[in-house]
Amino acid sequence: MFSRITGIGSFLPGEPVSNDDLARRGIETSDQWISSRTGIRFRHLAENGETSSDLALEASHRALAGAGLAASDLDLIIVATSTPDFIFPSTACLLQSKLGNHGATAFDVQAVCSGFVYALTIADKFIRSGSHRRALVVGSEVFSRILDWSDRATCVLFGDGAGAVVVEASEQPGILATALHADGAHHGILAVPGSVCGGQVTGDPFLRMDGQAVFKFAVRVLAEVAEECCRAAGISPADIDWLIPHQANIRILEATAKRMKLSMDKVIVTVDRHGNTSAASVPLALDEAVRNRRIQAGQKVLLEGVGGGFTWGAVLLEL
Ligand code: ACO
Repeated sequence: MFSRITGIGSFLPGEPVSNDDLARRGIETSDQWISSRTGIRFRHLAENGETSSDLALEASHRALAGAGLAASDLDLIIVATSTPDFIFPSTACLLQSKLGNHGATAFDVQAVCSGFVYALTIADKFIRSGSHRRALVVGSEVFSRILDWSDRATCVLFGDGAGAVVVEASEQPGILATALHADGAHHGILAVPGSVCGGQVTGDPFLRMDGQAVFKFAVRVLAEVAEECCRAAGISPADIDWLIPHQANIRILEATAKRMKLSMDKVIVTVDRHGNTSAASVPLALDEAVRNRRIQAGQKVLLEGVGGGFTWGAVLLEL
């Protein structure tokens, strides 16, 4: 028994917000600084009150329509998010309620920007075990809520959005290999080091990052885990048709492709228009590349995540 993606959908809130728009809102920055260092030109930002489960709902409706399934057909719902609606219940349970599904297994995965790759791997393992047959796997984030808008080194990098896939049991292989890793020793280089205690926020409720340390770490592990995942499937990185890395920064994507000796023509890039949407970035990029027919049925696609924790991982699949 294998698992296979049968539907893909995504959702971006509101209109694109340009780098110049951020400068006009009072952030001391420029299009030249942001685009030359990160490749980011636009991002989408959720309205006040618009939550991760709202964005996830739109993306999920589109993925379910693509698979030709109703929400009641699902027996597993996994949401990858670091910006949940509440401390609890999980965003997966809130999404389940909005979809009108009753009884499916539902839970969140917290692996920051690797969250979607973690969640997809977990769904693959549930399905291959025979316990579940139809999963909805979502990455959904409203990172704009945890940004310090007075810290220009971080607030310009992120955006909001959601991407979703339906994964079904299949006799034909879809997901070919997976690899997941974490090393908590690096928790300090990218974190929101705050918590709620006694009705108050303790610590720091905003995203903090050592940008240069993150850059070096991300490039190394993205190249390593790509090779590991290809090896597990018995192919070489040169056999990949498309690489979809977590969309953090164009320079991380270019450095990863160079280490893997892959042409940038094989790398799906959306960071220029979406910014870094954390757990949503990979399914957003996958959806866009399938909808505009760059990715074709039968091609080998390698999805990769890296994020706070630190966590990292890869999923090799055929659509
Ligand atoms: N606009 C204008 N100037 C800025 C901005 C801004 N938005 N942000 C920082 N600067 C200034 C700084 O104040 C500093 O000025 P100074 O020299 O007068 O002190 C100067 O630019 C250089 O700042 P650095 O932080 O050293 O800039 P750096 O060249 O390292 O680039 C960046 C920062 C783009 C974040 C880089 O470190 C990077 O790409 N890191 C990767 C991190 C990343 O992409 N994280 C995403 C989240 S992690 C993940 O998803 C896995």
